[in-house]
Amino acid sequence: MRRKLLDVDGRRSFIRGASVFALTTVALPPAVACLRAAPVEDARGAGRPSRIEIAGREEPGARMGMSGTVYGVDAKPVPGVKIFLYQTDAEGYYSRRVSDPRRARLRGTVWTDAQGRYAFETVKPAHYANVASQPAMHIHVHLEPPGLPDHWVDSYYFDGDPKLQSGVVERARGLGRFSNVVALGPGESGVAQGVRDFRIDPAQAERNRLVDGWYR
Ligand SMILES: [Fe+2]
Repeated sequence: MRRKLLDVDGRRSFIRGASVFALTTVALPPAVACLRAAPVEDARGAGRPSRIEIAGREEPGARMGMSGTVYGVDAKPVPGVKIFLYQTDAEGYYSRRVSDPRRARLRGTVWTDAQGRYAFETVKPAHYANVASQPAMHIHVHLEPPGLPDHWVDSYYFDGDPKLQSGVVERARGLGRFSNVVALGPGESGVAQGVRDFRIDPAQAERNRLVDGWYR
């Protein structure tokens, strides 16, 4: 199933670098770990975890956690929102030997609980490997609220990343917990923590809807 490769901010850089990337990411070390998206806690019953672990403990990289709440247009928390996430590993690869976002090894799906909350733990992604023009490091995110299309929204970015584009920073300014540029703070057991809330936008859901896993 095909999925859109990049968020708006990363797309152009990816397209410029994709051909070079695909040709140069060969003969690399084998993947360290297979896909891990095991539920850490299931607040809504079997198969619908509200907390997941995208990267297992054996995955190299700086561990980080993210949590937040999804709100509706009425500003009330929305339960049962499907959140799909995918990212590079800590060396900038979605997959190996060829890095392909559509086959991202580090990915997972989480659903908001009865209070609209979600959480995931993973390793911090990296700038794309072997790509001349790199976007800021990011985690892609798709939302599927009940009754609305599965759609992409702005990726998670990380405060302080020197590759953040000024436009991304400007758009995120003043949004508080709704900002997609997240500041990771110290957390328990060496796992840095960030917060991002979402506000469902039905118009955006239509505009950014995924068709057969791909962008319209
Ligand atoms: Fe990406």
